[in-house]
Amino acid sequence: MSTILRFPPPQLQMVTVDVPSVSRLRLTVAVPGSTIRSVTVLVAGATGATGRLLVGQLLHRSLTVKVVVRSPDKLPGDVRSHSNLSVIQASVLDLSDAEMAHHVNGCDAVASCLGHNLNLKGIYGPPRMLVTGATRRLCNAIKANKPDKPVRFVLMNTAGNSNRDIPERVSFSQRCVIGLIRLLVPPQLDNERAADYLRVKIGQNDGAIEWAAVRPDSLIDESEVTGYEVYSSPIRSAVFNAGKTSRINVANFMADLITDDDMWGKWRGQMPVIYNKASS
Ligand SMILES: NC(=O)c1ccc[n+]([C@@H]2O[C@H](COP(=O)([O-])OP(=O)(O)OC[C@H]3O[C@@H](n4cnc5c(N)ncnc54)[C@H](OP(=O)(O)O)[C@@H]3O)[C@@H](O)[C@H]2O)c1
Repeated sequence: MSTILRFPPPQLQMVTVDVPSVSRLRLTVAVPGSTIRSVTVLVAGATGATGRLLVGQLLHRSLTVKVVVRSPDKLPGDVRSHSNLSVIQASVLDLSDAEMAHHVNGCDAVASCLGHNLNLKGIYGPPRMLVTGATRRLCNAIKANKPDKPVRFVLMNTAGNSNRDIPERVSFSQRCVIGLIRLLVPPQLDNERAADYLRVKIGQNDGAIEWAAVRPDSLIDESEVTGYEVYSSPIRSAVFNAGKTSRINVANFMADLITDDDMWGKWRGQMPVIYNKASS
């Protein structure tokens, strides 16, 4: 049985807490609103097909969200007009170090859904290392602020990348194909280097940043969150037997990582691979 006590006083915010010593007792108590600091998240790539869904998920959870976007008009209307959203209009790599540090200051988490636009200019033109450069600069900005507690950095990556921190079996033929893609399609190398930056440069014991790199397989669009499964390594070949991952499921999982401490404890410092349930 779960007991809920409620007080509805005006000007006070309600907080539900578990009582540690009395299992299954939850108290909803009133505290002065000013003592509660809402969770703030900065999202890069928020106008992208996944980024906008992530922003929607975070706003739906009543978080405060900052987005750095080149074209605010690409954000969905309900997102753009949301009172918890602030929009920084800029190209993420064009911000100065001081501007970047200012924008991430006070953020509990930073998420990147950046990716190269899928046209000739986006794939072969500058910036070749968009995702890596943004990851490095955002991390430097977090560190410059010397946060009291580690900021969560959640990177959208790809199942076509391996986590070299752990033994992941990749067939010889897949290694050859990925090597070729790396040579011919620069965004592959960019995604690999961005994750390498977190794995190697930030590592597992950084006082300012904790990270997770989420690896979806082939992205598809669905309107609703559906069942999905998350693994520490791919369970199928991203090249020869790709699975499907809907963007909204990626957004849901990234939002869970940001808001759910248990989920974060499970995947922090790792590169979880996410598949829609039906495809695995
Ligand atoms: N396609 C797949 O099957 C697949 C599978 C696994 C992982 N991924 C990876 O998932 C990530 C996100 O995918 P998605 O489909 O959601 O991405 P997307 O719709 O292409 O969105 C890309 C985002 O990056 C921004 N961006 C692009 N070039 C930029 C630049 N030069 N400066 C600043 N911002 C820039 C875009 O901003 P604008 O709106 O201003 O252009 C947009 O917000 C990518 O890294 C991709 O490699 C893809």
